[in-house]
Amino acid sequence: MAMECKGRAKLLLFILLLQAVGLEDRRCSCAVVQFIFGDSLSDVGNNNYLTKSLARAALPWYGIDFGRGVPNGRFTNGRTIADIVGDRMGLPRPPPFLDPSLDGETILSNGVNYASGGGGILNETSSLFIQRFSLYKQIELFQGTQDMIRMKIGEKEAAKFFQQARYVVAMGSNDYINNFLLPTYVDSWTYNGETFTNYLITTLESQLRLLYALGARQLTFFGLGPMGCIPLQRFMTSTGGCNESTNKLSRMFNKKSEDLLKKLSGRLPNASFVFGDAYDSFQDVINQPETYGFDNSDSPCCRIAKIRPTLTCTPLSTLCKDRSKFVFWDEYHPTDKANELIGNAVVSKLGLAKPGNGTGTAANGERER
Ligand SMILES: *[C@@H]1O[C@H](CO)[C@@H](O)[C@H](O)[C@H]1NC(C)=O
Ligand SMILES: *[C@@H]1O[C@H](CO)[C@@H](O)[C@H](O)[C@H]1NC(C)=O
Ligand SMILES: *[C@@H]1O[C@H](CO)[C@@H](O)[C@H](O)[C@H]1NC(C)=O
Ligand SMILES: *[C@@H]1O[C@H](CO)[C@@H](O)[C@H](O)[C@H]1NC(C)=O
Repeated sequence: MAMECKGRAKLLLFILLLQAVGLEDRRCSCAVVQFIFGDSLSDVGNNNYLTKSLARAALPWYGIDFGRGVPNGRFTNGRTIADIVGDRMGLPRPPPFLDPSLDGETILSNGVNYASGGGGILNETSSLFIQRFSLYKQIELFQGTQDMIRMKIGEKEAAKFFQQARYVVAMGSNDYINNFLLPTYVDSWTYNGETFTNYLITTLESQLRLLYALGARQLTFFGLGPMGCIPLQRFMTSTGGCNESTNKLSRMFNKKSEDLLKKLSGRLPNASFVFGDAYDSFQDVINQPETYGFDNSDSPCCRIAKIRPTLTCTPLSTLCKDRSKFVFWDEYHPTDKANELIGNAVVSKLGLAKPGNGTGTAANGERER
């Protein structure tokens, strides 16, 4: 009797195990999705849920050329660079982490975007904005996501899911613009340009290694554009030209982060960590806007009459007549059209486009190899 009972219990356990395994198998013919870490250039809505943040794209005219034309958290009139690059790769656009409807199914089929306006490589960056997710915080949130997915599909399938995902990290401008270059921050008088950049790179190395340890294998890190040419920086030079010493910081950061990505790719088994550089293509657009169909590359499309700088686009601002003719949307961020040019340049350079689909953006003449 006792024997039979034990036997049955074992059988039951066996069936349960089978079911569990079956469940995992059914669940994970996993989609390839993206996990995006970044700042306002990649934010798709997180800061709109951070109600105390001073960096939010929650009011018109943000999002005017996106979907129904209402603000959606993107700090531009249309798509971000990450939107454009992801589309060209044939990957779904991940929802913001703080979206209340985000659940396991959504994550398994669309990934997650943790990007937050004001976010930096350093925890202390943008403290004046009160609320934002720094890169370390974003990685912490990602670990929470991993726990949730493991519970849902099991350890083994989750590991597979996270290893085949694509990772995007786009960070660094705030560490300069909203930290090192502002005299109110301790870092601005503790470091010089070179030692500060080294501090950023050392921190970034730990963060990228952490992502690798968490399963990231295919990762693109986006370098900085010519930060000295954003309208706010130009406004502060006496000539209205780009601030060359700020641009030099961008180039220094890019050189060092490119070296870092190469080093990590070479040392970490199975890692394909690449550097996505758009500095030169963006600088070229700024220097010769007409060549690319723009007629303004030095001031924001959205602004309040003659008052400058206004730190954000507001419902009181007026818009330029043709938004596709301006490189910059507000004092900091490029327009949809400029993002498209930059995104396509990165896709071509890295050969990221989904095979057999180079037609989506033929309008601007870009074609992948
Ligand atoms: C940065 O913030 C994270 C939490 O988001 C914390 O775990 C970490 O210790 C902080 N690092 C430093 C150097 O302050
Ligand atoms: C460029 O920016 C640096 C750093 O903020 C500043 O010290 C310098 O005065 C600026 N140059 C010009 C020409 O405004
Ligand atoms: C690298 O890839 C091989 C083949 O897919 C796999 O067996 C191995 O476990 C991977 N190693 C790491 C550290 O990801
Ligand atoms: C090709 O790319 C365009 C633009 O990104 C997209 O709308 C379309 O769905 C893609 N087609 C395929 C087959 O992936």
